[in-house]
Amino acid sequence: MLNKVFEYAGSHKKSIHLASFIMLISVIMGVLPFLFAYPIINPLILGEQLELERLALLLTSILVCFVLQAVLGGFGLNVSHKAAYNTLLGLRTSLQKKMENLPLGVVEEKGTGTIKKMFVDDIGSLEVLLAHSLPEGIANLIVPIMVYVSMFFIDWRLALMSLASIPVSILAMMIMYSVGMKQMGPYYMASGKMNNTIIEYVNGMEVVKVFNKQTESYERLSKDISNYRDYALAWYKTAWPWMALYSAFLPCTIILTLPLGGYFVYMGYASLSNLILILCLSLSIGLPLLKALGFLPTMPQLNYKISALEQALNMAPLKQGENDFKGTGHTILYDNVTFGYPLSKMGENGQPKTYIKNVIHNVSFTARAGEKTAIVGESGSGKSTLAKLFIHYYDVLDGSISIGGQDLRDIRLESLNKQISYVAQDQYLFNTSLLENIRIGNLAASDDEVMEAAKKAQCMEFLNRLPNGIYSLAGDAGKMLSGGERQRISLARAILKNAPIVVLDEATAYADPENEEKMEAAIRELVKGKTLIVIAHKLPSIVDADQILVMDHGRLVANGKHKDLLESSAEYRKLWDATLFSKDWKISRKEGEKNV
Ligand SMILES: Nc1ncnc2c1ncn2[C@@H]1O[C@H](COP(=O)(O)OP(=O)(O)O)[C@@H](O)[C@H]1O
Ligand SMILES: [Mg+2]
Repeated sequence: MLNKVFEYAGSHKKSIHLASFIMLISVIMGVLPFLFAYPIINPLILGEQLELERLALLLTSILVCFVLQAVLGGFGLNVSHKAAYNTLLGLRTSLQKKMENLPLGVVEEKGTGTIKKMFVDDIGSLEVLLAHSLPEGIANLIVPIMVYVSMFFIDWRLALMSLASIPVSILAMMIMYSVGMKQMGPYYMASGKMNNTIIEYVNGMEVVKVFNKQTESYERLSKDISNYRDYALAWYKTAWPWMALYSAFLPCTIILTLPLGGYFVYMGYASLSNLILILCLSLSIGLPLLKALGFLPTMPQLNYKISALEQALNMAPLKQGENDFKGTGHTILYDNVTFGYPLSKMGENGQPKTYIKNVIHNVSFTARAGEKTAIVGESGSGKSTLAKLFIHYYDVLDGSISIGGQDLRDIRLESLNKQISYVAQDQYLFNTSLLENIRIGNLAASDDEVMEAAKKAQCMEFLNRLPNGIYSLAGDAGKMLSGGERQRISLARAILKNAPIVVLDEATAYADPENEEKMEAAIRELVKGKTLIVIAHKLPSIVDADQILVMDHGRLVANGKHKDLLESSAEYRKLWDATLFSKDWKISRKEGEKNV
């Protein structure tokens, strides 16, 4: 594990070594005063004469050592922090570069919460390791070892006695681990749950207020918060007696040496001077020992975080070529495409393991240029996934997708993006003016061209209603716009982009009945003369498609025109019947849709 960390430290490795060395000197400076105390105490006890000059010299040395210990300690920390933060900077930059080259879908899936946690918390926690645990830990470990070795040269029996506090403390520490670990899982779960509830609580505040659900949602939040407290306390309760035991016991290095050593001296087995020296030395290493062992409890956690980070850094980047699009025409070919999402689960060793669950199995079809290809199927059958593979959100696991004969993996993402307008259910509006939001479709477009696109997307009627019209900020306007209206903004964006291929993934899902007519008009504008792939849950909108693909559990089970499919495909028939049924029952259909 340390090797891994040092790898990240790169050129700052030297600084960490330097910091460790400075800390080592600092810790030695902390031990020396006890050594200097010996020539003071020894004559006193033996009743020998101690010259005043010598005493003054010794006392000055002690003082100098303490000052040096503090100064060097501070200096060492300074060096180690510089190295630590520079390493964190390097790590964060490489993670950022990694993110940029990852399939967009993978990034999206991780979620803002997880990514933020990785960038801020997980990498941040390495600071403790690099700046403190490593240099301080090493120094505080080496010095006691050195001291023990020298004690063995003085009197090995007395030295053995001084080791007494260590096995008991280590035992207590191990017990603390094993009992504490059992509580760790529920503790982390409670903490995760509380985090999620807080996010939900804040995000949903508006809805909560409108529907007067304040008390209910507040109660859920406070329940999770007190739950977290309970688990935290439960952990402390099981762990703290052992923690108290080892932290009290470990520094008691003289616990055996004093009584038993005294007996040895009394019986004449050892000399009094040696005992005094050993006692002084033993006392000197209590604190370093405690510090050295204090950083051990953080190790399993750090190890966990480092491997999570490793995993993120090792994720396969998107296979992205250097070439511009140079296909002949825009006929789209899916050739034996298989795909699965990377999922992770807890492995036996408590570390996350990724595995792949295939959701698309050997799908092949051709969507001819200029034609309308529809994809239908039950929810979860893989329709959206097929579309996301096409816009190169993810790499296929097997098979290939090509446009005009050119493999997607051969095309630069930017160049591919120019070929495709992709409109899905949830379109992101940036918090700039609606005008700028539409202009994203084509940054070179003039205001007039943007207006024209807005007109074609049937946006004028609601834009005129807004106080600042098309210049309203999306954030402010967002609250005044219905889901269908927001969607028409993104259709305007796509119209302005004017890409030769259009992919619509349930783009009309948010349309309320009043909006539906306008939405359809907007879409008609968008798809004029384009190669079109449309995913629809409303089958009537696709009866005219040149080709309908029926998906079922990730497999393409039928392929043809509406009329033929009604006869030849039981799956299609079933979907069609379900649509007819919901058409008769408008209410049930409306409820089934998501409303914003
Ligand atoms: N980001 C994702 N991570 C893991 N599994 C996913 C993800 N998106 C979709 N799936 C799974 O893939 C399958 C197909 O989903 P999807 O393509 O969205 O279906 P559809 O669009 O037909 O409803 C489903 O089983 C779904 O649970
Ligand atoms: Mg879908």
